[in-house]
Amino acid sequence: MLKDKTILIGITAGIAAYKICELIRMYKREGANVRVMVTPNALNLVTVLTLESLSQNEVFVDNFDIKEYKPEHISLCDEADIMVIAPATANTISKVANGICDNLLTTTVCAFNKPIIIAPAMNTNMWKNQFVQENVSKLEKFGYNILNPESGFLACGTTGEGRLCSLDKIYNKTLEILNQNNILAGKKIVISAGGTIEKIDPVRYISNFSSGKMGTALADAAYKLGADVTLVSTFDINKPYNVVKVESALDMEKEILKFNNNVDCIIMAAAVADYRIKEYNNQKMKKTSDYEIQISLVKNPDILKELADSAKITKIVGFCAESENLIENAKIKIQNKGCDYLIANDISRKDIGFSSDENEVYILDNKLNIEHLDKSSKSEIARKILEKVFE
Ligand code: C5P
Repeated sequence: MLKDKTILIGITAGIAAYKICELIRMYKREGANVRVMVTPNALNLVTVLTLESLSQNEVFVDNFDIKEYKPEHISLCDEADIMVIAPATANTISKVANGICDNLLTTTVCAFNKPIIIAPAMNTNMWKNQFVQENVSKLEKFGYNILNPESGFLACGTTGEGRLCSLDKIYNKTLEILNQNNILAGKKIVISAGGTIEKIDPVRYISNFSSGKMGTALADAAYKLGADVTLVSTFDINKPYNVVKVESALDMEKEILKFNNNVDCIIMAAAVADYRIKEYNNQKMKKTSDYEIQISLVKNPDILKELADSAKITKIVGFCAESENLIENAKIKIQNKGCDYLIANDISRKDIGFSSDENEVYILDNKLNIEHLDKSSKSEIARKILEKVFE
């Protein structure tokens, strides 16, 4: 059930640390790739050798174990689908809740932007401490999944609240979150990204300012949600999903049309040039004494319209970039193009769109219903667009 998933376990120095050896086995049994990091204090309770043998992976302890070019807290963040901190001590909980990064584990949590489960375990009085409780509430408020400790006999010899919750609870919560994040499992999605390049001669071309960020964010989000993704991009990028590199609008048309009616959805996020050079010059054009020269352009195919005209089973999503009268123009465009959804963004704003990492968009459907997505990161916007399209 956990095939293709990477679970990052963070072990802190609670006596329940020994139980996590069994949790690693539970995840491994279901096919997960398990990465483990421990706080330096936790090494008094469990050994690196045990954790490495069980996880079949290198175990990380501090920030200076760097063997690859990328620091571990970033590479492990990229790799993992979820992070599970168990047992979580009062110390680590309080540091995380206050953004403190004084070891590899706390630094990683600070950089981790995917789901995090925290399973606290500690002495009853520590658990009831007002600052600890305040920090737990703070984490809960910000979306961390807290699995409260249970009552029972504690290692310190007392009985009360503070015992690590059952491993089954941690395991089931992990499955629940990872499945929620799999809403596009079994779906095939093709996304175009970047600005097309229309060559004039071997050294010159016409293009546009598209950075490809929105299309790539959509492909990343679809992949994370479990879809089988193909990105048709004008940029050569290395991704864990299929990337087809194209250059011109005609290249893009050829690659994209192959997928119509063979996939569940095609999203045209690319800025496709409306015109291309009428006659490509095989040799570099020479500078002349003329003040003015003429280059003839001819119309490129409208890929989005072609897709929408022939789509029977594939959902077609287009983008529209407008510098004025955004909604009115978008309404006209979705009717002309005939696509199922149109994502409208205002390119007159400097803080969003083109090369920005943020966007604010309107989603129009073919019945002209409109939904506004507030300004946020392109990856957040991408996830919301996919959730809407596959509602
Ligand atoms: O017509 P306009 O360029 O404003 O429409 C934008 C939408 O149409 C985008 O989804 C873009 O990817 C797509 N498009 C296309 N082929 C073109 C021009 C735009 O598929 N030649």
